[in-house]
Amino acid sequence: MEKGKTIIEGFGLKRYYQRGSETVKAVDGIDIVIRSGEMVSVLGPSGSGKTTLVHLLSCLDAPTGGSLLVEGVSVEGLSEDELAGVRRKTMGFVFQKFYLLPTLTVAENVELPLLFLRKQPDRAATMEVLGQVGLEDRAEHLPNELSGGQMQRAAIARGLIINPRLLIADEPTGNLDSENSKSIFDLFGHLVRDKGISILVTTHNLSLGRLANRVITLQDGKVVKEDRF
Ligand SMILES: Nc1ncnc2c1ncn2[C@@H]1O[C@H](COP(=O)(O)OP(=O)(O)OP(=O)(O)O)[C@@H](O)[C@H]1O
Ligand SMILES: [Mg+2]
Repeated sequence: MEKGKTIIEGFGLKRYYQRGSETVKAVDGIDIVIRSGEMVSVLGPSGSGKTTLVHLLSCLDAPTGGSLLVEGVSVEGLSEDELAGVRRKTMGFVFQKFYLLPTLTVAENVELPLLFLRKQPDRAATMEVLGQVGLEDRAEHLPNELSGGQMQRAAIARGLIINPRLLIADEPTGNLDSENSKSIFDLFGHLVRDKGISILVTTHNLSLGRLANRVITLQDGKVVKEDRF
C-alpha cells in the first residue's frame, strides 16, 4: 500500500460523558491523522483519555463532537453493522488482556476473525502470520501453555490475520514485564517496516512510547505534545 496515505482522520473529536450535573471531558477536541506505514503511540497518564480516543478511532464509540473519516469516508450516521464492516475492512485489534479463547489452539485463535468475515481459514497463511510474531512452533498449543509475552504475540497474529491497514493496540503491554513489553514494541516496529501497515498503540510508558515514529501525548482529553522520531 502507498506509504503516507491517510487511513484515519479525526477533526475536533470530543467525547463528553454526562454524570449528573458533572461533565467528564474524556476526549476534548482532538485532531489526529494516522497515515499508512507509521507507528503512532498515544501516551498519557491514567484517565487522560487514551482508551476513549482509541474507541472513537475504532468506531466502537461515537464522538459527541467533531468528525471522523476512515479511508476518506465519514463514519457519521453509519449503522452498527456498517461500522462493524468498516472495522473489519480496515482494522485489527490487540488488547491488554489478550482475550484468547482457552479451548482453541493458538492457530485456531488466530483464525477466529476470519470466521466473522465468513472467510475460509488458510493454514499456510495462519502459519505465515505466526512466523511474523515468532510463534510458528506454538501453533498447536493452547493459550495456557504460553508465556504472557507469547500470548500477546498470538493476539497480535490474530489482529494481523485479516491483513488490516491499521493495527490498534490499547495498552498491549499492560500485563507484561519490561523485557516482554520492549519486544512487543520492537515487533510492532518490524511490522510497520516490513508489512507497511500502521500501528496505533497506547501506553503510559514513556520509554516504550518513544519507540514509535510519532508520539502524541494526552492530558485531560487534549493533545499537549506531539513528537516525531
Ligand atoms: N463510561 C464512562 N462514563 C463516565 N466517564 C468515563 C467513562 N469512560 C471513561 N470515563 C472517564 O474518561 C476519562 C478518560 O478515561 P480513559 O479510559 O480514556 O483513560 P485512559 O487514558 O485510557 O486511562 P488508563 O491509562 O487508566 O487506561 C477518565 O476520567 C474516565 O473516568
Ligand atoms: Mg486506558
